[in-house]
Amino acid sequence: MIDYESHFVGAIDSLHAEKRYRVFADLERIVGRFPTAIWRDGDRAREITVWCSNDYLGMGQHPTVLGAMTDAVSNMGSGAGGTRNISGTSHPLVELERELADLHGKEAALVFTSGFVSNEAAISTIARLLPDCLIISDELNHASMIEGVRRSGCKKQIFRHNDLAHLEEILKAADPERAKLIVFESVYSMDGDVAPIEAIADLADRYNAMTYIDEVHAVGMYGAHGGGITERDGVAHRIDVIEGTLAKAFGVLGGYITGSKSLIDCVRSYAPGFIFTTAIPPALAAAATASIRHLKESQAERDAQQRQAARAKDVFRAAGLPVMPSETHIVPMLVGDPDLCKKASDHLLERHGIYIQPINYPTVPRGTERLRITPTPFHNDALIDTLRDALVETWKTIGIPFTSERTSPAERTEKVTPLVVSQAGG
Ligand SMILES: Cc1ncc(COP(=O)(O)O)c(C=O)c1O
Repeated sequence: MIDYESHFVGAIDSLHAEKRYRVFADLERIVGRFPTAIWRDGDRAREITVWCSNDYLGMGQHPTVLGAMTDAVSNMGSGAGGTRNISGTSHPLVELERELADLHGKEAALVFTSGFVSNEAAISTIARLLPDCLIISDELNHASMIEGVRRSGCKKQIFRHNDLAHLEEILKAADPERAKLIVFESVYSMDGDVAPIEAIADLADRYNAMTYIDEVHAVGMYGAHGGGITERDGVAHRIDVIEGTLAKAFGVLGGYITGSKSLIDCVRSYAPGFIFTTAIPPALAAAATASIRHLKESQAERDAQQRQAARAKDVFRAAGLPVMPSETHIVPMLVGDPDLCKKASDHLLERHGIYIQPINYPTVPRGTERLRITPTPFHNDALIDTLRDALVETWKTIGIPFTSERTSPAERTEKVTPLVVSQAGG
């Protein structure tokens, strides 16, 4: 007889043994007081400060976004009422797709229930529709992109993270007549580094490859209208498919792709992950459109986020804390050990009322466990200083090395390209 339960218990035990069993904090955000939230722990309820939210600009509480959402709920109800194939498309979703196509300067857009689903469905479908497609994928691509590559059933080759020479080597070796799809991200969410997009587009042109970029950690936050790094760098027109999320800087939920009319029509018509699932509710679509429209016009949130992220890095470095190199709004703080990382996170919450989820393997390579800090426009200077003091106390109490106490380049937080394929997540 198979003891089914013992397999599940054993799988969980092995996560505990590797110190990477995950616990989620029970949180209730408070509208108007971002980044404060109520943390519930058993019978206790306590106000804490959240420092690891991907509601990067606080748009999840913006009055315009909330107004659009509540108006749509009042007028159109809660759910979408079915898949788009069966029940049609709610008008707010039609407007949202127009807004997204415009944001990225593309002919068309298609919305999915999440960014994860958009990558999984779009990459697998696009590659499957091309003859004998070779997918060429950055080694640090997100798990959702890896799933898309797997589901396509196509052959894949992995290029070293952001390594143009390696990418070119793979492109050169491939049959010139073979279809090729390069998949990569703009901002890598765990290190905060940025892909050399223009150079990748040049290589794609030279070797006649298609390009697919994930801008999940950049849309809303970069470019004059929030069109992401591709907008900031003036290269959106060089990339065939731009993918993004509505759940992070736009503060709502859902994912999308933008591209040519026929490509979008193909994914709409062939992708099971789009066809066989209920559409996002009209209220989410209306809220997302309001958020995108606001961020197209307003630069204030982007400027404030960049200012606070830069200040946080400066203040933490000056205190000797091991801030990892990051070109963006993401502030990774190296711990380098899964147990210490979890302990630091627990201590920050218990002692200081500060919530930063530990980031362990497989989200990041072993030995680079970290706290991933995401300052928003609402994390003011006083909050940054409070966090610095709390981190210094935590580092001393738990016994985590400061920058000056680290020996290897990796430990000194200099940039090292990890050798493993991680399944980044965020
Ligand atoms: C790079 C990247 N792509 C896609 C996703 C998935 O997006 P969503 O949260 O909208 O499903 C994430 C994380 O959430 C991500 O970090």
